[in-house]
Amino acid sequence: MNICVVGVNHKTAPLAIRGKIGISSHRLQEALLLLHNYVSAGIILSTCNRLEVYALADSSDLVNFLSARADLSCSELLPYTYTYHNEEAIKHLFKTASGLDSMIIGEFEILGQVRRALEEAEKTHPLSLLLLNLFRQAVRVGRRVRHETGISRSALSVSSVAVDLATRVIGNIGYSQVLVIGTGEAGRLAAKAIRERGSSQITVAGRSEERASTLAAMLGGRSIPMNNLKYELSISDIVISCTGAPHAILKAPIVEEAMSARPKRPLVIIDIAVPKDVEPEVKQIGNVFLYDLDDLTHVSELNTQQRQSELTNAMEIVDEEVERFASWWQALEAKSNISALVEKAENIRQSQLTLTLKKLPRLSDEERANIETMTMSMMQKILHEPIQYLKKNKEGSQIINELFGLKK
Ligand SMILES: NC(=O)c1ccc[n+]([C@@H]2O[C@H](COP(=O)([O-])OP(=O)(O)OC[C@H]3O[C@@H](n4cnc5c(N)ncnc54)[C@H](OP(=O)(O)O)[C@@H]3O)[C@@H](O)[C@H]2O)c1
Repeated sequence: MNICVVGVNHKTAPLAIRGKIGISSHRLQEALLLLHNYVSAGIILSTCNRLEVYALADSSDLVNFLSARADLSCSELLPYTYTYHNEEAIKHLFKTASGLDSMIIGEFEILGQVRRALEEAEKTHPLSLLLLNLFRQAVRVGRRVRHETGISRSALSVSSVAVDLATRVIGNIGYSQVLVIGTGEAGRLAAKAIRERGSSQITVAGRSEERASTLAAMLGGRSIPMNNLKYELSISDIVISCTGAPHAILKAPIVEEAMSARPKRPLVIIDIAVPKDVEPEVKQIGNVFLYDLDDLTHVSELNTQQRQSELTNAMEIVDEEVERFASWWQALEAKSNISALVEKAENIRQSQLTLTLKKLPRLSDEERANIETMTMSMMQKILHEPIQYLKKNKEGSQIINELFGLKK
């Protein structure tokens, strides 16, 4: 069996491509059903900065799925993808779950996203023990790395880094009027970070009035419906936009109108949504400072430098865990190959024994039993070496499969 991952992330693809390929949480089930047309079962890990598909399959099946899903040809898609097999794929997932492959090193959100990716895949199709255990172990490794190293000490999130960027531009945000658009995980984290950095004038805009007012109440702020954005923009200093909308929700004319009421007062808009929430033309409006997810890269690089020594410790744990998982996998493979080998030999023994005994009808029960015992002990002796070989050698399965004509 071949564990394969094909993915796209913030290191390999620009925001525009990530926006095209990304799968929002409410479309994940639909994507998993489509994936089933390409592989028997798989797991899709989709976050703001990555989309990865894990399966026991060939990479070409996964590339074909991604290309069909994103409506891009394989040749358009391939330059942005990475592919890992077997131990490299295991290592990649363990690093990812540990926050070591994230834009914000050590972030916590990815661990929940890995766990949810497994839960969603389990709802769609039964998973093989190998994939199931791979993701369960990834969550455990992610926890272990965070527990045993300082990689997530005072951990940041993309949302909190967005708030830090706004603080850099504005200075002290204590007196700033802040608008958060989106009431999901990213919105909650952004609002929390704003509060922690000293601003109490927070407004939350959401599609669901109930969710917006619940989040606002938690922060001591106000909530508004999405169709009231224009007025709110005219009185805000900072906007953090993070909805799961598939299209821009903050269009240039609305921002322009809002700015005409306060032309000299700067407005910082940080759009961390993928695909983007804010039309690019907004950047041209006077006194509007628009940033997107890729503009957070500089802050994230600083964060990576500060955590460099912890990265080494974290990688040691990941390497140890990859080895442990690979040993378990080898034992699993060896067990199923040993069963297949014994089953084949036993079938041959039984059919040859039946043929022989038919030709010798006068044998006594004792003689028949002796022949049966002899065939069994011959089989055990012949299989002893191959079974030992399978138990001890990582690459043994393929050789034994070929030598004994076993199906893969
Ligand atoms: N989670 C993170 O740590 C993180 C980090 C960086 C960037 N992001 C990006 O931030 C965005 C939100 O992520 P999330 O994790 O917060 O997702 P989420 O928990 O699923 O929340 C999505 C939010 O967007 C709203 N929404 C969805 N479609 C909308 C539409 N057509 N118009 C208006 N609002 C809409 C949802 O409203 P309802 O509640 O009414 O459905 C919900 O408030 C995504 O683009 C993601 O890539 C997330």
